[in-house]
Amino acid sequence: MPDIVAVTPEDFRLWAEHIDRLFRESGRNGQPLFSPFEEAPGASSPERQGRFESSLVVPVREPGWMRAWSVQDPARRIVCHLDLSGSNIPSENHRMTLGIGCEQGFRRRGIGTVLMRLALDFASEHGIEWIDLFVFGENAAAIALYERFGFAESGRRRDRFRLMGRMVDDVMMTLQIPPSAESNAIWA
Ligand SMILES: CC(C)(COP(=O)(O)OP(=O)(O)OC[C@H]1O[C@@H](n2cnc3c(N)ncnc32)[C@H](O)[C@@H]1OP(=O)(O)O)[C@@H](O)C(=O)NCCC(=O)NCCS
Repeated sequence: MPDIVAVTPEDFRLWAEHIDRLFRESGRNGQPLFSPFEEAPGASSPERQGRFESSLVVPVREPGWMRAWSVQDPARRIVCHLDLSGSNIPSENHRMTLGIGCEQGFRRRGIGTVLMRLALDFASEHGIEWIDLFVFGENAAAIALYERFGFAESGRRRDRFRLMGRMVDDVMMTLQIPPSAESNAIWA
Protein backbone atom coordinates (compact mmCIF):
# COMPACT_ATOMS: atom_id res chain seq x y z
CA MET A 1 0.00 0.00 0.00
CA PRO A 2 1.51 3.40 -0.94
CA ASP A 3 2.15 6.00 1.76
CA ILE A 4 -0.64 8.36 2.71
CA VAL A 5 0.62 11.83 3.56
CA ALA A 6 -1.10 14.84 5.09
CA VAL A 7 -1.56 17.66 2.59
CA THR A 8 -0.02 21.03 3.51
CA PRO A 9 -0.76 24.54 2.21
CA GLU A 10 2.40 24.31 0.06
CA ASP A 11 0.86 21.38 -1.86
CA PHE A 12 -1.77 23.52 -3.59
CA ARG A 13 -0.36 23.23 -7.13
CA LEU A 14 -0.02 19.42 -6.92
CA TRP A 15 -3.51 19.22 -5.42
CA ALA A 16 -5.12 21.39 -8.13
CA GLU A 17 -3.40 19.42 -10.91
CA HIS A 18 -4.75 16.16 -9.44
CA ILE A 19 -8.29 17.51 -9.14
CA ASP A 20 -8.13 18.72 -12.76
CA ARG A 21 -6.90 15.33 -14.03
CA LEU A 22 -9.53 13.50 -11.96
CA PHE A 23 -12.42 15.70 -13.07
CA ARG A 24 -11.40 15.25 -16.72
CA GLU A 25 -12.08 11.50 -16.29
CA SER A 26 -15.65 12.03 -15.07
CA GLY A 27 -18.17 10.43 -17.43
CA ARG A 28 -15.49 9.45 -19.96
CA ASN A 29 -14.04 6.10 -21.03
CA GLY A 30 -16.79 4.14 -19.28
CA GLN A 31 -16.31 6.00 -15.97
CA PRO A 32 -19.34 7.21 -14.01
CA LEU A 33 -19.99 10.90 -13.66
CA PHE A 34 -18.57 12.31 -10.45
CA SER A 35 -17.85 15.94 -11.34
CA PRO A 36 -20.55 18.60 -11.71
CA PHE A 37 -18.56 20.14 -14.58
CA GLU A 38 -18.45 18.79 -18.14
CA GLU A 39 -15.12 20.51 -18.67
CA ALA A 40 -12.68 20.63 -15.76
CA PRO A 41 -13.03 24.26 -14.61
CA GLY A 42 -9.40 24.62 -13.56
CA ALA A 43 -8.96 24.04 -9.85
CA SER A 44 -6.05 26.47 -9.51
CA SER A 45 -7.71 29.92 -9.27
CA PRO A 46 -6.28 32.38 -6.72
CA GLU A 47 -9.57 32.25 -4.74
CA ARG A 48 -9.34 28.47 -4.46
CA GLN A 49 -5.71 28.69 -3.50
CA GLY A 50 -6.51 31.21 -0.76
CA ARG A 51 -9.35 29.05 0.64
CA PHE A 52 -7.23 25.89 0.45
CA GLU A 53 -4.25 27.42 2.21
CA SER A 54 -6.23 29.10 4.95
CA SER A 55 -8.64 26.24 5.71
CA LEU A 56 -5.80 23.75 6.24
CA VAL A 57 -4.52 25.78 9.18
CA VAL A 58 -7.88 26.49 10.85
CA PRO A 59 -8.06 24.32 14.00
CA VAL A 60 -10.29 21.27 13.54
CA ARG A 61 -13.94 22.03 14.47
CA GLU A 62 -13.41 25.78 14.20
CA PRO A 63 -15.51 27.36 11.40
CA GLY A 64 -13.97 26.78 7.97
CA TRP A 65 -11.49 24.01 8.83
CA MET A 66 -10.30 21.45 6.30
CA ARG A 67 -7.77 18.62 6.39
CA ALA A 68 -6.59 16.54 3.44
CA TRP A 69 -4.39 13.55 2.66
CA SER A 70 -2.86 12.32 -0.55
CA VAL A 71 -1.20 9.36 -2.19
CA GLN A 72 1.54 10.24 -4.65
CA ASP A 73 2.99 8.31 -7.58
CA PRO A 74 6.76 7.84 -7.99
CA ALA A 75 6.89 11.15 -9.93
CA ARG A 76 5.40 12.82 -6.80
CA ARG A 77 2.13 13.66 -8.52
CA ILE A 78 -0.93 13.35 -6.30
CA VAL A 79 -3.02 10.44 -7.60
CA CYS A 80 -5.54 9.93 -4.78
CA HIS A 81 -6.96 12.27 -2.18
CA LEU A 82 -9.19 12.47 0.86
CA ASP A 83 -10.55 15.79 2.07
CA LEU A 84 -12.53 16.40 5.24
CA SER A 85 -14.09 19.74 5.95
CA GLY A 86 -16.24 21.42 8.54
CA SER A 87 -18.99 23.95 8.26
CA ASN A 88 -18.58 27.71 8.45
CA ILE A 89 -20.93 27.92 11.44
CA PRO A 90 -20.15 26.67 14.95
CA SER A 91 -23.53 24.98 15.50
CA GLU A 92 -22.53 22.38 12.87
CA ASN A 93 -19.15 21.55 14.30
CA HIS A 94 -20.19 18.03 15.31
CA ARG A 95 -20.32 17.13 11.57
CA MET A 96 -17.87 17.02 8.69
CA THR A 97 -18.13 16.48 4.94
CA LEU A 98 -15.97 13.94 3.12
CA GLY A 99 -14.56 14.00 -0.41
CA ILE A 100 -12.43 11.26 -1.97
CA GLY A 101 -11.02 10.35 -5.36
CA CYS A 102 -8.36 8.27 -7.11
CA GLU A 103 -7.23 8.74 -10.69
CA GLN A 104 -8.15 5.89 -12.97
CA GLY A 105 -4.93 3.85 -12.86
CA PHE A 106 -5.00 3.84 -9.06
CA ARG A 107 -8.52 2.58 -8.38
CA ARG A 108 -9.49 -0.82 -7.06
CA ARG A 109 -6.21 -1.26 -5.19
CA GLY A 110 -7.68 -0.76 -1.74
CA ILE A 111 -6.56 2.89 -1.45
CA GLY A 112 -10.14 4.17 -1.14
CA THR A 113 -10.72 1.75 1.73
CA VAL A 114 -7.62 2.92 3.60
CA LEU A 115 -8.60 6.58 3.12
CA MET A 116 -12.14 5.90 4.39
CA ARG A 117 -10.74 4.23 7.51
CA LEU A 118 -8.56 7.26 8.07
CA ALA A 119 -11.65 9.50 7.84
CA LEU A 120 -13.58 7.45 10.40
CA ASP A 121 -10.61 7.37 12.78
CA PHE A 122 -10.19 11.13 12.38
CA ALA A 123 -13.86 11.69 13.26
CA SER A 124 -13.55 9.57 16.40
CA GLU A 125 -10.34 11.28 17.49
CA HIS A 126 -11.91 14.73 17.13
CA GLY A 127 -15.31 13.95 18.63
CA ILE A 128 -17.05 14.50 15.27
CA GLU A 129 -20.33 12.58 15.37
CA TRP A 130 -21.62 12.71 11.80
CA ILE A 131 -19.96 12.38 8.41
CA ASP A 132 -21.84 13.64 5.34
CA LEU A 133 -20.95 13.17 1.71
CA PHE A 134 -22.49 13.77 -1.69
CA VAL A 135 -22.34 11.28 -4.54
CA PHE A 136 -23.98 11.10 -7.94
CA GLY A 137 -26.72 8.48 -8.14
CA GLU A 138 -24.99 6.61 -10.98
CA ASN A 139 -21.64 6.31 -9.18
CA ALA A 140 -22.05 2.67 -8.15
CA ALA A 141 -18.36 2.20 -7.27
CA ALA A 142 -18.34 5.04 -4.76
CA ILE A 143 -21.74 4.12 -3.31
CA ALA A 144 -20.55 0.52 -2.80
CA LEU A 145 -17.47 1.80 -0.96
CA TYR A 146 -19.51 4.12 1.26
CA GLU A 147 -22.11 1.46 2.08
CA ARG A 148 -19.32 -0.87 3.15
CA PHE A 149 -18.48 1.68 5.83
CA GLY A 150 -22.10 1.97 6.96
CA PHE A 151 -23.09 5.16 5.13
CA ALA A 152 -26.79 5.29 4.22
CA GLU A 153 -28.70 7.56 1.88
CA SER A 154 -30.12 10.53 3.80
CA GLY A 155 -31.40 12.63 0.93
CA ARG A 156 -31.58 12.83 -2.82
CA ARG A 157 -31.95 15.82 -5.10
CA ARG A 158 -33.39 14.26 -8.22
CA ASP A 159 -32.19 15.68 -11.54
CA ARG A 160 -29.90 18.14 -9.76
CA PHE A 161 -27.42 18.23 -12.65
CA ARG A 162 -27.74 17.89 -16.41
CA LEU A 163 -24.42 16.55 -17.63
CA MET A 164 -23.49 14.97 -20.95
CA GLY A 165 -27.16 14.76 -21.86
CA ARG A 166 -28.01 12.90 -18.62
CA MET A 167 -30.15 13.81 -15.65
CA VAL A 168 -28.02 13.25 -12.58
CA ASP A 169 -29.33 12.74 -9.04
CA ASP A 170 -27.22 14.14 -6.21
CA VAL A 171 -27.37 11.74 -3.27
CA MET A 172 -26.48 12.70 0.26
CA MET A 173 -25.12 9.87 2.40
CA THR A 174 -24.49 10.07 6.12
CA LEU A 175 -22.77 8.01 8.79
CA GLN A 176 -23.14 8.48 12.52
CA ILE A 177 -19.98 7.93 14.53
CA PRO A 178 -20.67 6.71 18.05
CA PRO A 179 -19.67 9.54 20.41
CA SER A 180 -16.63 8.88 22.56
CA ALA A 181 -16.99 8.71 26.35
CA GLU A 182 -15.26 12.10 26.49
CA SER A 183 -17.75 13.94 24.26
CA ASN A 184 -20.66 12.22 26.06
CA ALA A 185 -19.53 13.93 29.23
CA ILE A 186 -20.44 17.32 27.71
CA TRP A 187 -24.11 16.31 27.76
CA ALA A 188 -24.10 14.60 31.15
C1 LIG B 1 -14.87 5.62 -5.36
C2 LIG B 1 -13.37 5.40 -5.32
C3 LIG B 1 -12.73 6.48 -4.45
C4 LIG B 1 -13.08 4.02 -4.70
O1 LIG B 1 -11.69 3.94 -4.43
P1 LIG B 1 -10.88 2.60 -4.69
O2 LIG B 1 -9.49 2.83 -4.20
O3 LIG B 1 -11.04 2.18 -6.09
O4 LIG B 1 -11.65 1.60 -3.72
P2 LIG B 1 -11.14 0.22 -3.13
O5 LIG B 1 -10.14 -0.42 -4.05
O6 LIG B 1 -10.70 0.43 -1.73
O7 LIG B 1 -12.49 -0.63 -3.17
C5 LIG B 1 -13.26 -0.85 -1.99
C6 LIG B 1 -14.62 -1.40 -2.34
O8 LIG B 1 -15.40 -0.39 -3.01
C7 LIG B 1 -16.24 -1.03 -3.97
N1 LIG B 1 -15.84 -0.66 -5.33
C8 LIG B 1 -14.75 0.05 -5.70
N2 LIG B 1 -14.74 0.21 -7.04
C9 LIG B 1 -15.82 -0.43 -7.52
C10 LIG B 1 -16.34 -0.62 -8.81
N3 LIG B 1 -15.74 -0.11 -9.90
N4 LIG B 1 -17.50 -1.31 -8.93
C11 LIG B 1 -18.13 -1.82 -7.85
N5 LIG B 1 -17.66 -1.68 -6.57
C12 LIG B 1 -16.54 -0.98 -6.42
C13 LIG B 1 -16.05 -2.52 -3.77
O9 LIG B 1 -16.94 -2.93 -2.76
C14 LIG B 1 -14.62 -2.56 -3.29
O10 LIG B 1 -14.30 -3.73 -2.59
P3 LIG B 1 -13.69 -5.00 -3.39
O11 LIG B 1 -12.56 -4.50 -4.24
O12 LIG B 1 -13.27 -5.92 -2.29
O13 LIG B 1 -14.83 -5.51 -4.21
C15 LIG B 1 -12.77 5.41 -6.75
O14 LIG B 1 -13.55 4.54 -7.58
C16 LIG B 1 -12.72 6.77 -7.39
O15 LIG B 1 -11.85 7.57 -7.09
N6 LIG B 1 -13.65 7.08 -8.29
C17 LIG B 1 -13.64 8.33 -9.05
C18 LIG B 1 -13.88 9.54 -8.16
C19 LIG B 1 -15.13 9.39 -7.35
O16 LIG B 1 -16.10 8.80 -7.78
N7 LIG B 1 -15.09 9.94 -6.13
C20 LIG B 1 -16.22 9.90 -5.25
C21 LIG B 1 -17.12 11.03 -5.57
S1 LIG B 1 -18.49 11.08 -4.43
